[in-house]
Amino acid sequence: MPDIIQLLPDNIANQIAAGEVIQRPASAVKELLENAVDAGADEIKLFINDAGKALIQVIDNGKGMSETDARMAFERHATSKIKNIEDLFRIKTMGFRGEALASIAAVGQVELKTKRAEDETGVYIEIENSVVVKQEPVAVPGGTSIAMKNLFFNVPARRNFLKSNAAELRHIVDEFIRVAMSFPEIFFSFTSNGQEVFHLEKGTMKQRIVQVLGNNYAAKLVPVQEHTDYMNIYGFVGKPETAKKTRGDQYFFVNNRFIKSAYLNHAVMNAFNEMIPKDSFPMYTLFIDLDPSQLDINVHPTKQEIKFEDEKIVYAFVQSAIKHALAQFSITPTLDFELDPSIQSLDAVSKPFTEENKSSASASSLYNTFTKKNQSHFIESKSELKHWKDFYEKEEIQGSSFKPQGEAHAFITTNNKPQTDNLLQLHNSFIVVQTNRGYYLVQQQNAHERILYERFGVAIDGKPIATQQSLFPATMELAAADAVLLNELLPDLNHLGYSLEPFGNNTFVIQGTPADVDQGNERTAIEKMLEQYKHFSNDLKFSKREKLLRSLALQQSVKAGTALTEREMKILIEDLFNCAVPNTTANGKPTYLEFKKDELDKLFGR
Ligand SMILES: Nc1ncnc2c1ncn2[C@@H]1O[C@H](COP(=O)(O)OP(=O)(O)OP(=O)(O)O)[C@@H](O)[C@H]1O
Ligand SMILES: [Mg+2]
Repeated sequence: MPDIIQLLPDNIANQIAAGEVIQRPASAVKELLENAVDAGADEIKLFINDAGKALIQVIDNGKGMSETDARMAFERHATSKIKNIEDLFRIKTMGFRGEALASIAAVGQVELKTKRAEDETGVYIEIENSVVVKQEPVAVPGGTSIAMKNLFFNVPARRNFLKSNAAELRHIVDEFIRVAMSFPEIFFSFTSNGQEVFHLEKGTMKQRIVQVLGNNYAAKLVPVQEHTDYMNIYGFVGKPETAKKTRGDQYFFVNNRFIKSAYLNHAVMNAFNEMIPKDSFPMYTLFIDLDPSQLDINVHPTKQEIKFEDEKIVYAFVQSAIKHALAQFSITPTLDFELDPSIQSLDAVSKPFTEENKSSASASSLYNTFTKKNQSHFIESKSELKHWKDFYEKEEIQGSSFKPQGEAHAFITTNNKPQTDNLLQLHNSFIVVQTNRGYYLVQQQNAHERILYERFGVAIDGKPIATQQSLFPATMELAAADAVLLNELLPDLNHLGYSLEPFGNNTFVIQGTPADVDQGNERTAIEKMLEQYKHFSNDLKFSKREKLLRSLALQQSVKAGTALTEREMKILIEDLFNCAVPNTTANGKPTYLEFKKDELDKLFGR
């Protein structure tokens, strides 16, 4: 038998390797941005078309490449960043594997223009399928421009695997933000389909955070800063009241590299423990610097996972640094979170948050300060009461109480028909409804959520919900990532009564809202809705619309703890039992429980 093993041709080997490095347009964006940073640029511009599927281009004013280097750059394992194995343990650059450009050239059509400051002319190179198809001199300013066109043009299976433009665009925004956040001393811009989405002037880290995550953080950042011989940590955490229902605004950078670490995230969450409601996430942007020899970055080709030589020390350090910062920010810092070397002793580290320090934290005035803040939140929900009442007031005036699609469902018989003339509200949260065979115990918020969900569902495909034009249209400025999201939702939101117009620069004008949303409250309503939407975003099984309906229903539903008048209860119960699926919310929580009289009799031995 002949020998059968052969070396793969370069272009196939590159394509296989590319599978790990370039998974989607966002991966190419990350690699190109990092190369520009490594080239010492202080101005980096990103252009994409069609969510990166048609074009990804990065232009920098960095040091450029010589003609020979420009060709070499696309070879696999070709790098200027490390020379020997020792270098691997003192990496200061973002790249070092010498793989990114080779991978990019294997899965897209690449055009490179580059010039070093010392050269008269630059060089232009075109590559397709890992092969140089054109090379000529070109007159360009110093720096490098790399354009990648038609990503995966030669790997249709991968191209088909890409998500919608909106989804891919969001990944790109994420990667862009991660690089832009860690280099506030570099100017970045990001243009998508000819529209500038980000324009980030050079500035301080705080300015960059606010530029990227939105103005509402401006007065709500607590600085974190601790230095030791072993490591430094600096950056910002959001004040507890800025904690959100979604994990969105959380960033860890180790030696300026964005990393994902559930372990370190846990350290932050522990430091915040009891200051924020359960299932909410504090904002943080934290930079950890330590000796590169204490790290292994080479765990994964995307370099977003790293291993620490001693992760327990890092954990303890992060946790106490944040506690310290939060304590300092509090007006009466009674808890002593002074960063003491003894905190780093292994004992404290192995039991990061004991019952004992939990109770000491909750007894502290620091803790009380935060719960008071939370209480002010409570007052906010009272304003929702008003809006909810208005809602029913208006409905009655128009005489158009919500009727769902189809007939009142067959489930209601004379036996279990709710009797709505004698309703009783308990704890401002439950409504007792008598029937011939017993009674229902209705949870008002879940019930209202179901009603709204069906109501919106009808409106989104059919007759739109009436918009009430605002007398004084409010503007709303969003973080860029949220603006991308809102743009995507605009047509559906329009149908649901929200009349919004993009105004450029991530700003929207609120021209009108559904009649049932309080005037003056529009902005909060929309912000909360976006939060809720992102909360559902990880659920791939839901369509965009489904997520929108669920978010709006959840956000606009009357909250438990709200006193209802008899008439409001009556309408709520009637509407609920007119629903197509009255017994659960869209998310599957029960809306009521039924208690049957004969079963109750049995319980009492009758
Ligand atoms: N924008 C740029 N400006 C100047 N030189 C660049 C630029 N992009 C790439 N290079 C050069 O091309 C080389 C190869 O880049 P490539 O991204 O493939 O590898 P790397 O950055 O060294 O490592 P990694 O694969 O980890 O990113 C770099 O080492 C660098 O010398
Ligand atoms: Mg690189």
